[in-house]
Amino acid sequence: MDIGELEQKLAGLEQDAARALEAAASLEEWRTARARFLGKKGYIGALMGTLRSFEREQRAQVGQLLNAANRRVTELCAEHERRIKSSQAAADVAGAELFDPTLPGRRPRLGSVHPVTAVQWEIEQIFQRLGFTVETGPEMEFEYYNFEALNIPAMHPARDMQDTFWLKSGMLLRTHTSPVQIRAMKRFGAPLRVIAPGRCFRCETLDASHENTFHQVEGLMIDRGISVSHMIAVLHLLIREVFGRELKVRLRPGFFPFVEPGFELDMSCLLCEGKGCATCKRSGWIEVLPCGMVHPNVLRAGGIDPHEFTGFAFGLGLTRLAMMKYGIRDIRVLNLGDLRALVPPSRMSGPVIAESC
Ligand code: DAH
Repeated sequence: MDIGELEQKLAGLEQDAARALEAAASLEEWRTARARFLGKKGYIGALMGTLRSFEREQRAQVGQLLNAANRRVTELCAEHERRIKSSQAAADVAGAELFDPTLPGRRPRLGSVHPVTAVQWEIEQIFQRLGFTVETGPEMEFEYYNFEALNIPAMHPARDMQDTFWLKSGMLLRTHTSPVQIRAMKRFGAPLRVIAPGRCFRCETLDASHENTFHQVEGLMIDRGISVSHMIAVLHLLIREVFGRELKVRLRPGFFPFVEPGFELDMSCLLCEGKGCATCKRSGWIEVLPCGMVHPNVLRAGGIDPHEFTGFAFGLGLTRLAMMKYGIRDIRVLNLGDLRALVPPSRMSGPVIAESC
């Protein structure tokens, strides 16, 4: 082969290389094309091997021709590598739909919620899973719903248990959430499963454990054949879910005019696990839930036949529960409007619904 032939061959090779590289649509194809022309076993590499067959004085020129061809094909390869990579990146973006500007934004979880609200949301979710609905009632209530319909007639000594704020109109600020029991029974009839969280008011002297404004959650389940064992099962589950672990419960007799029999439900002390400590006054138990079987007079006041239906009710001290759960020692902190008492979403258990606040 003389120099002229070599020049022709190299020109042909460069054209072939350009065509092969243009045809390459993927990096895989590009690598194959490059290996065919460059590299030790490629066409140009093979021609390099012929260098020795040329006359000594021609070798410098042959070397230059080979190197120049090698450089041009190398440049072509680099150019096509860039082309393939950039078109692949564009295809990736289009395929993965990395950013859709038309989607509605996700609202950030901003701010914190009041400890009572945090526990209230949690309790609502637990009961909604059990088929209970969440009801509300008015804070300014008729004497009838707050007392009479709940089997607490005028002059009944039980009225003294709750120091009432009376309004000039003869109405009152509800002293408990129990009036919602009557409202719900009248509205929905039986069978019925409701809880009613809300604010209550009593004429109390403020101290670390007494407030004139506090929260309760009333619960009511009415159906055919409801017994004390249904009540224990539901309330035991409630305590397990709220505190996130198994705690023992026990029932003691308790008197409330609207239930018969009435109970106080205690749970084993969180701090000493029932061994006895200062918090539980050495008893190993903490009083959490007054409850009982709905009194027949109350069912009747709600328009429900006590011969056909029975039910249980409970009145949970939401404020006290929030204090226990978040280790708040002084109840007054909760109504101060002090931002430091709020619960950031990260400390709340259960799904956070901060969007709704
Ligand atoms: N309403 C009562 C209170 O505030 C609490 C209560 C006790 C509610 C027993 C109930 C119940 O539903 O069954 O003191």
